[in-house]
Amino acid sequence: MMMAMIMPSPSHSCSTIALIVAAGQGERAGGGMPKQYRMLCGETVLRRVVRVFLENPAISAVQIVIGDSQEGHYEMALADLDGRDGLLTPVIGGTTRQMSVRAGLESLAEREPPPDYVLIHDGARPFVSYEEISAVLDALKTKSAAVPVLPSTDALKYRDEKTGQVLDIQRSIKKESTLWRTLTPQGFHFADIIEAHRKTQQEYDDDIALAQAAGFECQFVEGRNENIKLTTHADFEQAEQTLKRQSVPLPRTGFGYDVHRFGKGNHVILCGVTIPFENGLEGHSDADAGFHAVTDAILGALGGGDIGDHFPPHDGRWKDAASFVFLNHAASLVSNDGGVINHVDVTLICEKPHLMPYKQSMKESTAHALGIKPRQVSIKATTTEGLGFIGKGQGIAAYAIATLLFYGKE
Ligand code: CTP
Ligand code: MG
Repeated sequence: MMMAMIMPSPSHSCSTIALIVAAGQGERAGGGMPKQYRMLCGETVLRRVVRVFLENPAISAVQIVIGDSQEGHYEMALADLDGRDGLLTPVIGGTTRQMSVRAGLESLAEREPPPDYVLIHDGARPFVSYEEISAVLDALKTKSAAVPVLPSTDALKYRDEKTGQVLDIQRSIKKESTLWRTLTPQGFHFADIIEAHRKTQQEYDDDIALAQAAGFECQFVEGRNENIKLTTHADFEQAEQTLKRQSVPLPRTGFGYDVHRFGKGNHVILCGVTIPFENGLEGHSDADAGFHAVTDAILGALGGGDIGDHFPPHDGRWKDAASFVFLNHAASLVSNDGGVINHVDVTLICEKPHLMPYKQSMKESTAHALGIKPRQVSIKATTTEGLGFIGKGQGIAAYAIATLLFYGKE
């Protein structure tokens, strides 16, 4: 009796595992850290990728392939991720992408039972959409492989590296044909793709190329322009710009205040500028009340304690320290947290010295210490009309407000 072959269809009763290859070194992107572990608007590339698949109900689990000795980066990148029970223990990849895919597939083959379907995705493509994943899964109901593609709209050339000649690709293919770029995720019936990987002796650019060479029937579905593979540093810059344009920034505001008493000396330092005066300001560091207030305002916006927590006055390292260091540190905490400093407003209060002539230099030095533009800094100065301790000429006070912006974060 002949048995009809029934293709299982991707549904909740079948298991589909997303296999994310993230074992590369990201050499073309530069920057020391492999690109999949780099930050993109406050979140690592890999975390973004993993989230897309973990949040998709059609995906049963996510298997990541990481590079040899990338465990530390991996842990850091995914430490605070919700839904980690959907993440399988990472496996170590190989020196080529194909070897990394193979390592991932072999580890899935050891599962009991192995998955029905596998979606193989680049760990450097964080902008993959729900629609592309669904289209690939849909196509697997009737075909043994599926891949999102994009028509290449530009005329393409290639350079023969041996002769240095630049040639037209279009001439080597039929005039009426269209060139396509293949993206990921590339979807397969698990048993078929692992067999094809095990059998092949050749190296392919991606799994769909390997599958086509093995004679699979492939379905080409519509890919999206956004689904780029981050390859160069310029790709990162462009992706960051796009993300920032898309997301509404959430502002956070912090307030800072500081006072220093006059003491012996012949100058004061305010907002990084040295101002000759008949007294100095007393303090453990350089007693720059302006910079201290700004540092506290930034730490306040971050919910990150105060200047004394970060630079304890009893710590000898900060004796006579230039307060530039404090400001610089606060600015680096902001960028580590995925934010940007949008604006800082400072009010300095004293009877003397007269601060007016120094306001522009203070603006510039504050901007320099924070890595922002002078137009993002406001410096104001006032007196207390002879009232209170400031009026009596006993010291200088500073108030500051910092506004930070965070993209795509609560
Ligand atoms: N990849 C992998 N194992 C390798 C090489 C690449 O898992 N031995 C992964 C990368 O981490 C990436 C995807 O395959 O997610 C696509 O490769 P590519 O963009 O070339 O990444 P890298 O090899 O890391 O970058 P480069 O070629 O610039 O070094
Ligand atoms: Mg590579």
